Amino acid sequence: MSKIEVPRTAPVPLADLVAMNTEVEQDVRAAWDGIIASSGFIGGEAVSQFEELWAGSCGTDHAVAVANGTEAIELVLRALGIGEGDEVLLPANTFIATAEAVVLSGATPRFLDVDPATLLVTPEIVRAAITPRTAALIAVELYGNMPRMVHLAHLAASSGIALIEDAAQAQGSTLNGRAAGSFGTAGCFSFYPTKNLGAWGDAGCVVTNDAAVAAAVRSLGNHGRAPGDGNAHQAIGRNSRLDALQAVVLTAKLKRLDEWTAARREAMEIYRRTLNHELVRFVEIEPHVASSYHQNVVLVTERDAVQEQLRRDGVRTGIHYPVPCHLQPPYRRYAQGPLAIAEETAGRLLSLPLFPHITERQIEYVCDCVHRCLDQVAGRSRGTRRSYG
Ligand SMILES: Cc1ncc(COP(=O)(O)O)c(C=O)c1O
Repeated sequence: MSKIEVPRTAPVPLADLVAMNTEVEQDVRAAWDGIIASSGFIGGEAVSQFEELWAGSCGTDHAVAVANGTEAIELVLRALGIGEGDEVLLPANTFIATAEAVVLSGATPRFLDVDPATLLVTPEIVRAAITPRTAALIAVELYGNMPRMVHLAHLAASSGIALIEDAAQAQGSTLNGRAAGSFGTAGCFSFYPTKNLGAWGDAGCVVTNDAAVAAAVRSLGNHGRAPGDGNAHQAIGRNSRLDALQAVVLTAKLKRLDEWTAARREAMEIYRRTLNHELVRFVEIEPHVASSYHQNVVLVTERDAVQEQLRRDGVRTGIHYPVPCHLQPPYRRYAQGPLAIAEETAGRLLSLPLFPHITERQIEYVCDCVHRCLDQVAGRSRGTRRSYG
C-alpha cells in the first residue's frame, strides 16, 4: 500500500472556531467592558437587543432567548400544553437533545424514519404516523437542510397538531427565501459554540409569531414569573435565561453570519466539483432550500476505515450521528420497530471538514485523500468479488 504524502495543507480540522471568534474578539471586548460597568450579567439590554435582531433575521414577531437549544424545545412543548399522555413525532436520526426535550416535557417520543436521499422527514412519512394521541411534530433541519416545511405546516394544521422546528443546525438556512424557524408554531435554536452562530458558552432561542407562546416561554424560562412582577409566579417554571456575555457575542457574530454562510456555500460548491467517486455521495438538499451547511455530510462505503485513514492523513471528520435515537439504550422503550433508512445510513455517514475560513487547497486535499482511500476500498471489493468468482 503506497503511503500518502501529507502536504502542507494538513491537518484540516472539522471546524475552525478560533478563526470566527478572532474576527469578533474586538467587538465583544468593547461590549463586555460596558456590561462590567453596568454589572447587568443576565438578561437586560444586551439580551433584548439580540432578541430583536434575531427575530428580525428570522422574520418572526418574537424571539425569546433561553439558556440552550434543548430547553428551547422543552419550553415550547410546555408552553403549548404538551406533556403526559401526548405523543410527539420526530426523526430518529437527530441529535439526542430533540428526543430528550420531548421526554423532559413529559410527552412520549415517536420516532420516524427519513427519506434516503435527504435524510429528512417527508409529509408522507409524517401523515402515516399521526394518531389521535399525536400532539406535535418536531421537524429537524438536519445539517442546515430543511424538510418540505410548507407541506408539513399544512399537514400539521389540517391534522390539529403543532409544528415545532428544531432549527438548532439551521441558522441562516432558507426555503424559498424564508428563514428556518419561521414556518412552525415556534422555531428552536441552539447557539452552542460549534453552531454556525455560536456563543461562547451555552445559549438558545425560541422564535414565534404567536405572542402567547412567546410570553409562556419567557415566563417558564424565568421561574414561571408573571410579566412585570418578579414575586408573582404563575407556573412552575425553571431557570433558562441567557446571559449578557452570550448576547454580545451572538450580536457581534450575527453581523457576519451572512458572509460566513456564503463562504460555507462556496466551499460546498468546491466540494461538489471536486469530490466525485462511485462510493461516496452527498446528502441531497431539498429543492428551493439554501442550506446553511452546518455540516458537510456524505454517505460513504466502509465509513469507519475511511475515517481512520483520513485521521492518519491529518483530516478530522465527524459522524452525525452514529446511533439513531431509538437505538440509544434509554430511548429503546419508545421504539416501535426498526427504522430501516435511519439505521442503515447511520453506518455510512461521514461529516467532512467545513467552516467559513476553509481554503480551496484544504478542500482539494480532503477530496484527494477521500478519493485515494476509496480507490483502495474499490480495489479490495473487486478483489473480493474475484476471489468468490
Ligand atoms: C438538532 C439539535 N437539536 C437540539 C440541540 C440541542 O442544543 P443545546 O446543545 O444547545 O442544548 C442541538 C445541539 O446540540 C442539535 O444539533
